[in-house]
Amino acid sequence: MNNNWSPNSWRSKPIQQVPAYPDAAVLAETEKQLASYPPLVFAGEARKLKRQLATVANGESFLLQGGDCAESFAEHGADNIRDFFRVFLQMAVVLTYAGAQPVVKVGRIAGQFAKPRSSGSETKGDVTLPSYRGDIINGIDFDEKSRIPDPARQEMAYRQSAATLNLLRAFAQGGYANLENVHKWMLGFVADSPQSGRYEALAARISETIDFMRAVGISAESHPALRETDFYTSHEALLLGYEEALTRVDSTSGDWYATSGHMIWIGDRTRQPDHAHIEYCRGIKNPLGLKCGPSLTPDGLLELIDLLNPENEPGRLTLIARFGADKVGEHLPKLIRAVEKEGRKVVWSCDPMHGNTITAAGYKTRPFDYILKEVQSFFDVHHAEGTHPGGIHIEMTGKNVTECTGGARAIRDDELQDRYHTHCDPRLNADQAVELAFLVSDLLRKGKTGEQPKHAAHG
Ligand code: TRP
Ligand code: MN
Repeated sequence: MNNNWSPNSWRSKPIQQVPAYPDAAVLAETEKQLASYPPLVFAGEARKLKRQLATVANGESFLLQGGDCAESFAEHGADNIRDFFRVFLQMAVVLTYAGAQPVVKVGRIAGQFAKPRSSGSETKGDVTLPSYRGDIINGIDFDEKSRIPDPARQEMAYRQSAATLNLLRAFAQGGYANLENVHKWMLGFVADSPQSGRYEALAARISETIDFMRAVGISAESHPALRETDFYTSHEALLLGYEEALTRVDSTSGDWYATSGHMIWIGDRTRQPDHAHIEYCRGIKNPLGLKCGPSLTPDGLLELIDLLNPENEPGRLTLIARFGADKVGEHLPKLIRAVEKEGRKVVWSCDPMHGNTITAAGYKTRPFDYILKEVQSFFDVHHAEGTHPGGIHIEMTGKNVTECTGGARAIRDDELQDRYHTHCDPRLNADQAVELAFLVSDLLRKGKTGEQPKHAAHG
């Protein structure tokens, strides 16, 4: 089936977005080292995620995927990870409650280090240097030395991913994610958060339900589903030498898996059907994401689906639409119709971030209104086509940053400078992320009942 595929068959294909490593021998040595290290995830987990995504493809659950645009070495602290995870759980609980269906939880974390760039170089004044490509490749500081790709960074990224994943597993399985803690996750809200009242009301209803269930004999001690959650990791599989080094045969099935994360995706810039990134991804058995931007035609999409999911396995492929708020209505219906006509089983997810980036006050930003509008249009199109709006894919942080403008506690253009910390694209802050979850929860409810959302219903 995998005609002529091997973990390194991508090397004979044309490739985009390759860093210029100064010393090929050092790079090869690093890749050899990495290939000798333990896998970060286990193939059985990737299969379990694929089964859960299959339920999304079948319209029975919802996918929440989110995290940093780019993880950084500088911000690798326990607080950062905990704050991210807490907001992620808040979003998940809002969506689970509203949709009354399971939420499949996938972080852009523990491996999201490599960034595709629109230009290979960056100019400031009269100095031109290679672009920053993510901490796994080079440094963000604008000086010659930092911008030289350094293979040693791949080992750093591997070790940071392992440590992050270790803490996330502990949080997900060790008690932090217990639904009985739904009130404790509140502690992260800043004092005057516009979302905290709404969240508190929801948390109170969940607590009441849990008390009732305990009274009838169902408790977190007796039912692991109440105290644990499945949390998965994902990243863009951009740096293929690193991915190859972590590609392993699963001894139970004999299949190849990327063990750098549970799910990996292919970016909008590297999805040429005859190029290296598609070649690598077609041969591994993990669930895959494919970013779909305005330049993707229906025929182009079907060609990629044939390559990436020839057996039409539900859960294998998630199509992540990232068109921009004003372009969804034009592009998405054509793609959905092509997929439906050919009977292809996919998950449709909405990335409302990457098509809505603008520059304001000298900062790359994203107006929260556009983000909401893209999500809204995505749902509208799916309702009109009779298909399942399966999920969202967002860039977010648990911190109170000022990177995207707007939101209920409106961030203005001139406030972007206050706490603009991202290494790459602007992220939703904790408040904006929860606000988005409430909006999506209204849309899910509307989809269920076919009625207009009742804002009053959840205070
Ligand atoms: N195990 C269920 C789930 O993951 C319920 C659950 C436990 C949960 N902790 C959670 C749901 C935290 C959302 C957030 O869906
Ligand atoms: Mn990004």
